[in-house]
Amino acid sequence: MIKKGIILAGGYGTRLGSLTKAVNKQLLPLYDKPLVYYPLSVLMLSNIKDILIITNKGEKSNFEKLLGDGSQLGIRITFLEQDKPRGLPDAFIIGEKFIGKDNVVLILGDNFFYGLGFTNRLKKALHSNKGATIFTYTVNNPSEYGIIEIDKKNKIKKIVEKPPRSKSNLAITGLYFFNHKVANFAKTLKPSKRNELEIIDLLKIYLKNGSLKSVFLGRGSAWLDTGSAKNLFSASQYISAIEERQGLKIACIEEISYQNKWISKKQILKIISSYGKCDYSDYLKKII
Ligand code: TTP
Repeated sequence: MIKKGIILAGGYGTRLGSLTKAVNKQLLPLYDKPLVYYPLSVLMLSNIKDILIITNKGEKSNFEKLLGDGSQLGIRITFLEQDKPRGLPDAFIIGEKFIGKDNVVLILGDNFFYGLGFTNRLKKALHSNKGATIFTYTVNNPSEYGIIEIDKKNKIKKIVEKPPRSKSNLAITGLYFFNHKVANFAKTLKPSKRNELEIIDLLKIYLKNGSLKSVFLGRGSAWLDTGSAKNLFSASQYISAIEERQGLKIACIEEISYQNKWISKKQILKIISSYGKCDYSDYLKKII
């Protein structure tokens, strides 16, 4: 069982150009909420209440303004800063103390997941994780992702980073489960040609010792990119279409807390008054 989660919410956000010059990518709007609400909601839906958010140097206070210490949501949020984007496995070196002797989930701060059965898949995998678990998704541009090749029995044969030509189109998404050994393994990694620690190299350690598992997110689910202006806009349109149609919000963190019975009606009312008069407040009123 995994009870701790890390959201990696730093990065340069180069592909977003001027948008990320003054504001961290994870604080930009994805339709009607800051981007970081989406990975946070994935952790909360998985019943994870102990969360570390890693931000860029000097940006911690902006996230604290938004999320506080998490107590208003019935969770515990700690913040740590990464002095520069040194690569995804750096999260485990920064978070070593937070992880301690427990298993941990890592989710990238700019990843959007949605779909029927997604939470159940996660919960099942949370229970059965022994070494590391990755989640894969079919993409039509494998040359832009870390890709796995599997055999007929669903066993991972090979992991390749951005293959120019590939037999497989199974991309590794930005959601990973690791056992407590991850910080020690991360410390053995050497920076790659682009001078970053690579998550692929970390996964290869688990693959080599036979403890890397993959879970396929079916075609009925969505894993969307938010890294470029075009992608961010398309993802916003996707969320808007679903929310308008159903009258239900995706990644409303207060609603998830309330449904998990982590907070009371009274606490929601307090949150509503802090947001003031807006559609989001109207929605919260509706759910209580
Ligand atoms: P990337 O998309 O690889 O990088 P980026 O967000 O800096 O964007 P760009 O490529 O346009 O410069 O990062 C994936 C996620 O991980 C994103 O949410 C930022 C985060 N991240 C960190 O917090 N620290 C890091 O060292 C790296 C490499 C990424």
